[in-house]
Amino acid sequence: MIDVQQVSKVHLRGHLEVRALDQITCQIPTGSFTFILGPSGSGKSTLLYLLGALDEPTTGTITIHGKSLQSMTPRERDQFRRKEAGFIFQNFNLLSNLSALENVLVPFLPQGVTSPQRQKAGELLERLGLGSRMEHRPNQLSGGEQQRIAIARALLKQPKLVLADEPTGELDTANSLAILGDLRALCREQNSTVVVVTHEHEYIQPGDHVIRIRDGRIADSGSNPSA
Ligand SMILES: Nc1ncnc2c1ncn2[C@@H]1O[C@H](COP(=O)(O)OP(=O)(O)OP(=O)(O)O)[C@@H](O)[C@H]1O
Ligand SMILES: [Mg+2]
Repeated sequence: MIDVQQVSKVHLRGHLEVRALDQITCQIPTGSFTFILGPSGSGKSTLLYLLGALDEPTTGTITIHGKSLQSMTPRERDQFRRKEAGFIFQNFNLLSNLSALENVLVPFLPQGVTSPQRQKAGELLERLGLGSRMEHRPNQLSGGEQQRIAIARALLKQPKLVLADEPTGELDTANSLAILGDLRALCREQNSTVVVVTHEHEYIQPGDHVIRIRDGRIADSGSNPSA
C-alpha cells in the first residue's frame, strides 16, 4: 500500500508561490492499477513525481510499502528511484543514437549489462510486438512503438512501482488502449503497482483504483465498480 498523508507541494515561480497540492491524503493499494485523473494544472504530475521521489513534498509524508520516503537518506531515495520505481513519460525520453534494444538496457549500462538482462530485454520487446524492431533507432519507429520501448525500459528492472505520466497522450485511441492493455498484462505478471496519469476516462476498467484531483485537492478516490 502507498499511503499519502497530508501532502502539500508549493512550487516557487520566481517569488510567486504556487500551491500545486493542498493537504492531499489518499491510498494506493499494492498491486492495483490506479489512475490519477483531473483537469490540466490540477497537480497530477506533481503527485506522480512525489510518489517516485523525483521531487519532495513541502509538507506531509508518503509511505511506500511500509517505508516513508521522507525518512530515507538521499542515498536510500536514490536506490528507491533506480531499483523500485519505473518511470514512463509522455515524450518517451529515448536516446536517438541507440537501438531499441539498447534503449531498454539504458538503466543497466552504468553497471554493465549481463546476458540474462539482455535476453529479458529482448523478450520484453517481443512481448510488446517489437521483435523485428530491436535494432531500429527511435526515429525509425512510430510513436506507439517508441512508447513500447519506454515501457520495456521501465519494466526490465521489475519495479514494485510503475509510474506513467500521460503515457499515451500523443497516440490515437486504438494504439493507446492496446498499449495500456500490454502494460496491464505485464505489470500483473510482475506484481507491480501501477499509477497512470491520464485525461481519458475510457481507459478505466472495473476494479481499477481511481484518484480524482481538482485544484490540488482530492475530489474523489476509490475503487471503480464499473467502467
Ligand atoms: N516546477 C514548477 N514550478 C512552478 N510551478 C509549477 C511547477 N510544476 C508545476 N507547477 C504548477 O503547479 C500546478 C500543478 O501542475 P501539474 O504539472 O502537477 O499539473 P497537471 O495536473 O499535471 O497538469 P497537466 O494535465 O496540464 O499536465 C500548476 O499550476 C503548475 O503551473
Ligand atoms: Mg501533467
